[in-house]
Amino acid sequence: MKTLDLSEYNFRTKAYGSVSVFIALAIVSFSVFQSFSYDVSDWIVLGVATIICLIFSQYNFRVPHTNGHISPRELVIFWAIIWLGASGSIVLAALSVAGNFREGMKDRVRWIFEASAITISTFVSAYVFYSTLSFGFGLTKNPIANSSINAFWLLCGLAFAGLTNFVVYSLLSGPSQELEMTPNNHLPRKYRYLWTAVGSVTCVVGVFAFHLVVVYFGLSIGLLILPVTVASHLAFRFYRKMLSQKTKEIREASRIHVATVEALATAIDARDQVGRGHVSRTQIFAVGIAKALGLSQGELNAINTGALLHDIGKLAVPDHILNKPGKLTPAEMEKMKIHPEVGASILERVNFPYPVVPTVRYHHEFWDGTGYPEGLSGDQIPLTARVLAIADTYDTIRGARPYSKSVTSENAKKHILDGAGTHFDPLIVEAFMRNHDKFEADVQKREISYQANEGESPKLGDGSVNTSELGYVEQIKRANREVFTLYELARVFSSSLSLEQTLSLFVKKIGELVPMDTCIIYLLDETEKMAVATHAVGRNSESLKNRKIKVGQGATGYALNKRKPIYNVNPGLDFSFYNMEFIKEYTSMASLPLIANEKLLGAVSLYSHSMESYQDEHMRLLETLSRIASDAFLLRFGMLNRKPAL
Ligand SMILES: [Fe+2]
Ligand SMILES: [Fe+2]
Repeated sequence: MKTLDLSEYNFRTKAYGSVSVFIALAIVSFSVFQSFSYDVSDWIVLGVATIICLIFSQYNFRVPHTNGHISPRELVIFWAIIWLGASGSIVLAALSVAGNFREGMKDRVRWIFEASAITISTFVSAYVFYSTLSFGFGLTKNPIANSSINAFWLLCGLAFAGLTNFVVYSLLSGPSQELEMTPNNHLPRKYRYLWTAVGSVTCVVGVFAFHLVVVYFGLSIGLLILPVTVASHLAFRFYRKMLSQKTKEIREASRIHVATVEALATAIDARDQVGRGHVSRTQIFAVGIAKALGLSQGELNAINTGALLHDIGKLAVPDHILNKPGKLTPAEMEKMKIHPEVGASILERVNFPYPVVPTVRYHHEFWDGTGYPEGLSGDQIPLTARVLAIADTYDTIRGARPYSKSVTSENAKKHILDGAGTHFDPLIVEAFMRNHDKFEADVQKREISYQANEGESPKLGDGSVNTSELGYVEQIKRANREVFTLYELARVFSSSLSLEQTLSLFVKKIGELVPMDTCIIYLLDETEKMAVATHAVGRNSESLKNRKIKVGQGATGYALNKRKPIYNVNPGLDFSFYNMEFIKEYTSMASLPLIANEKLLGAVSLYSHSMESYQDEHMRLLETLSRIASDAFLLRFGMLNRKPAL
C-alpha cells in the first residue's frame, strides 16, 4: 500500500490537516456509537440517503444565471441533520466521502482533507441548527424528523447552519481546495468563495423545500423526488448539449456554404478582371445603404446575396468582350447586356426565400428607363436592385482595372451624384452620400481598400513571381488575359497590315505577357545563312537593329539552326562578336524559331536585365504567340528566302 506523500505541503498545512483529521475521527467515532440506538426505519433512511449520495457524488448543478453550484450530496447530508440528527448526518457524510475515495496519491491526500472538513463542518452546522431551534422554539428533540415545527424557525435554523457550514468548510478545506478541481477552480479565490456562498444559500432553500415535501408527501415520495429531479436534470443537460452540438454543426455548414459561394463568385468575377475586393466592397456599400434606408431583414439578405452574385451571368459573355479595353461595339454591348438575365435564371433554381433574383436581374436598370434588360424606370425597378446599382457602379469606377486606373473617392462620388435622377434613384443617392465616409471607413477596416493596381495582373513570371504561388483569382485573370491577347492578335493579323505593323503588334503582345527589356525579331535573308535583326524594341534597340547573325552562331543562331527554342543561356553569346559595353547588362535570354508550314522564317529573341531566368510558362506563351505570328508572316508576305520589303 502506498504511503501518503505530504512533501508538497508546508508545516502549517500539515499541522492544520493533522488536527482536523484527528477531530473528525473523534466526531465520526462518537456519531457511529450514537447511531447504534437507531431503529430500523432510521437505518433504511440512512441507507437510501447514502446510496443517493454515492450515485450523485460526482454531479454539480449550476444555480441558474450564476456561477454557484449545488451538489445533491450536500443537499441530502444537510437534510439528514433534520431527519437523522447530528450523528446520522455525520455518519452519512463519512460514508459518502468514503465512497468517493479514488486511487492515486494526490486524490488520497485531498480525500482526507476534504473528509475531515465535511465531517467537522457538518457537526458544527448540526450543533448550530439545533441550538437555534432550542433558542427560538424551545425545541429539545434531536433529531426532529417529521415533527411539526414552526417554518420560520426551521428556516432560521437552516440559514444559520448553512452560514456556519460555509464558514467552517471554507476555513478547513483551504489546503484541499488548492488541489481540487472544483467547478470554479479557474476563478480567483474571492470569487470562488462568493459562488460557494451562493451555492450554500441555494442549498439551504433546497433543503427547506425538500423537507416540506417529505413532511407533506411522505418520506418515500420525498426520497424518490431527488433522484427523479437529478435524472431529469441530467437528461435535460444531455439534450441541451446535443442541441448546442447540432446548432454548431448547422452554423458551420452554413458558413461553409457562404464561403463556397463567395469563392465561386470571386472566381467568376476574376474573368472580368475585377479585383478581389469588388464583391466584398459592393456588399458593404449596398448593405450599408439598405440599413440607412431602414429596409427589412429579407431585403437586407437579398441585397447581401445579390451583391455577392450580381455578375455571375457574365459566364455567358465571351472573354474577348469582358476583357476588351476600349468601348464595346453595339453588337458586343448587346451580348454584355444578357448577363443580368442569365444571372437571374441561374439563381432562380436556388429558390431563395428573399428577393435575390429581381435584385440581380434589374441591377443595370436606369432610373429614367434607359437601362437594361427591360428598360424599367423609377419605382418599377425593385428597391433592392436600385440600391445595388449604386453600390456596384461606385465600386467599379473607384477600383482599378487592367485598362483603367482607379479614381479618387471624390470623383467617384461626383459620378454617382451626376447620375441621380437619370441613372440612379435620387433618394438612394442621398442616403449613399450621407453615409459615404462611414462606408469607406468600413472598407478600410476590413482591409479591402482600393489599391492603385488592384485590377492589374503582374506579367507571367514577372521577377521572382512563381505562377504556382499565385492565388486562384490571379490565375483565372491571367488565363483570360492570355485568351484575350491571342484573340486580339489573330483578329488584327487578319486585317491588312504592313510587315512593320505586324511585327510591332507581335512584339507589343509579347510584352503584355512575357517580361523582357529588349526584343528582337530576326528574319532570314535570301541566303538562309544569315538572319537580320529586322525589328527591335526596348533598351539598346537602336544599336541592335539591322545587325546580322549567322545561322548556328550564338544562342539565336543555335535556335535557328536546330529549329528549337533555347533559353536561360548567357545572353552574351548572341552579342560576343559586337564588342559592346551594354551587353554585360543582360542577365537572361530566350530565343524561339519562327516556323510556318515547316519553313523557317527567322527567330524571336528576348533579353532581360532583371530576370534571373525564363520559365517554362514564358516559353509556352512565346511559342503560342509565335505560331500565330509566323502563320501571319508567311500568309501575307510569302517572305521565305527573300528579304522582306518594309
Ligand atoms: Fe453587372
Ligand atoms: Fe459588379
